[in-house]
This record gives sequence, C-alpha cells and structure tokens, in this order.
Amino acid sequence: MYVLGIETSCDETGCAIVRGRNVLSNVIVSSLKFHKRYGGIIPEIATRNHTKVVDKVFKESVAKANLHLSKISAISVTYKPGLIGALVVGINFSKALALALDKPLVGVNHLHAHLFASFLNNDIKIPFPFLGLIVSGGHTELFVVKDFDRIKSVGKTRDDAAGEVMDKVARTFDLGYPGGMYIDKIFNHKYRKSFNFKCGRPALDFSFSGIKTALIYKKHELENKNAFSSDVKVKLLSSFEESVVSAIVENTVMSAKKYNLKSIVCGGGVISNSRLRALLKQASSNNNIRLFLPPKRFCSDNAAMVAGLGSYLYNIKKIHSSLNIEAFSN
Ligand code: KG4
Ligand code: ZN
Repeated sequence: MYVLGIETSCDETGCAIVRGRNVLSNVIVSSLKFHKRYGGIIPEIATRNHTKVVDKVFKESVAKANLHLSKISAISVTYKPGLIGALVVGINFSKALALALDKPLVGVNHLHAHLFASFLNNDIKIPFPFLGLIVSGGHTELFVVKDFDRIKSVGKTRDDAAGEVMDKVARTFDLGYPGGMYIDKIFNHKYRKSFNFKCGRPALDFSFSGIKTALIYKKHELENKNAFSSDVKVKLLSSFEESVVSAIVENTVMSAKKYNLKSIVCGGGVISNSRLRALLKQASSNNNIRLFLPPKRFCSDNAAMVAGLGSYLYNIKKIHSSLNIEAFSN
C-alpha cells in the first residue's frame, strides 16, 4: 500500500511516497533563500513559492519512487498547524489529486507527523504510550501519545518557541537565518556556563522570551563597556543555548515521570541540535527512559513524515478525511 504525502505548512514544499514506513521518495524544495534577507518567513513569499513549485515537486517525487500513480492508495496532506495560505496550496493540490486518482484524502497534523519521523525507514515497534517532544520554529510542546489518533498536549511554551527564540537571537548577533543551526555550530562546551541565563519553566510549560531579553541586554551592556569580543560572543551564545536546551530536557524528563511514561519520542527542526541531542540521551539513560531521536534529515520539515503518518492512520487506524477538509493555522 503506497501513500503519497504533501507538506506545505511553512517554507518547505514537500512530496513523498512511502510504503508503510519505508520512504521511496522524499523531495523538498525550500523558499528559504527568498526569506533570508528579512530574517524570518514572509507568509506571502512562502505561499507564492508553494504555488510555483508544488507540481514539479510532485512529479519529481513520483519519478524518484518509480511508481505508477494507479498504485497509490491514499493522499496524505498537512492541514494544520501552519501558515494559512501555505497550507491551502498543499490542501487544494492534494484534493485535486484525490479527485483525479479517485483515492481517499488523509489530513495530518504537522506536529503529530514530526513525532512519526522516528519510525520512518525502520520496523521498530512504536512504544505507545509515549511522551512526545516537539521543538521547532513554531512550537515547543509536550504530548502524551496513547496512539496517533489519541494525542493530548500536556505542556507548551507560553511565548516564543525554542527555534523562534534561537532565530531571533541569531539575528541580533548577525549570524544568519535560520539561526538555530548557526548557534549550534558556535556552541562551545567549555563556555556553556560562562553566563547565568535562566529560562522560565512555569508548571511544566516553557517560557523563552525572558532569556532572549536578558541576553540582548547583556550584549548591549558589554558593548557599551567595550567588553564585547568574538570570544565573549561565543560565551554568551553558548550559555544561552545551554539554558534553553536544559529547560527543554528538564521539563521533558519531569513530564515523562509525571505521566509514568517509559519512552520519549522527539521531533522538529531544533531536535537536530547537537547539545540538545546529547543532553536528551544523557537524561533518558540516567532515568531508564527509552529515547527516540529521528535522523537529522527527518527532523526539519519534510513530506516523508506526513506520508508515513498518513499511511499509519489510513492503513492501521482506518481513518481518512472528507474532501471538505480545511486549513487551520493553529
Ligand atoms: O521543524 P522545522 O523545520 O520547522 C517548523 O515546523 O518550525 O524547524 C525550524 C527551526 C528553526 O527555528 C531553526 O532555527 C531550527 O529549527 N533549527 C535548529 C537547528 N537546525 C534547525 N535549531 C537548533 N539547532 C539546530 N541544529
Ligand atoms: Zn515543522
């Protein structure tokens, strides 16, 4: 049973074909280069670019999978959350495909798809129930996952997402966009405690906007005293990253304990972060928790995770959506 997935929730236009959890093709075209000069994603540019490239991405994905379209059993598409115009492009394209091929449509939540990424290209038994951790540009959220159709949010950021705060900080330090990756590269272990920055952890939620302000004030203060150098920059950013990833790991482990869950499954672009991966491994091993980290190529937005989850929902849970499915930003 082959499932074709379409992803257009942000700046990546993706189309993938899977057979169960095996990825046959996974084509991604990003409009990132058009957003870089603005230091963030411009929704209209993202939407226009999806419209421009979605058919090419689809054709390339089908060609790579070397599959006749008649073999496809269902079309899976991200319908929330994301940029509304961007989502509409993918949804309408998928509806057209479903109609033309006379196949069912399966609407997929983008965050749930990120949690499916760890199970692509393997036959590991999915460890239900588990704690899901999503850390991306738009979300920092914890879920109790009893199955992929029984997911409950149990903690999230009350202001900026972790990726968003890294991108904003990186912009202040002129590091380029998206900033998380640059901060990851700059991080120096020996400077991780040079400055004492703290993230808010109200209840089991997150708060990252305070640390962003504290870091920016500190930078200005040091600049005014002529005490800002490239070495100090590394110290500031390493201490900032250490505090953000530590808050994520501490809340994650505390939530797993609170809900008595023995597995943690991670997903989202920030899960590529080397220090976050290392701390998650250390904390889960110290607490006898099984940890699932997707390979880096499946951390950031892609359609393979959408097709994989669509295949699971359609084939295992017998779920599909109506052709009236709408886009939701949240
Ligand atoms: O999941 P994703 O591709 O898109 C959303 O759904 O948001 O995540 C994008 C985010 C950006 O904020 C980017 O800075 C961050 O992931 N990111 C990283 C790394 N690679 C990407 N953050 C920290 N370390 C990285 N290596
Ligand atoms: Zn994402």
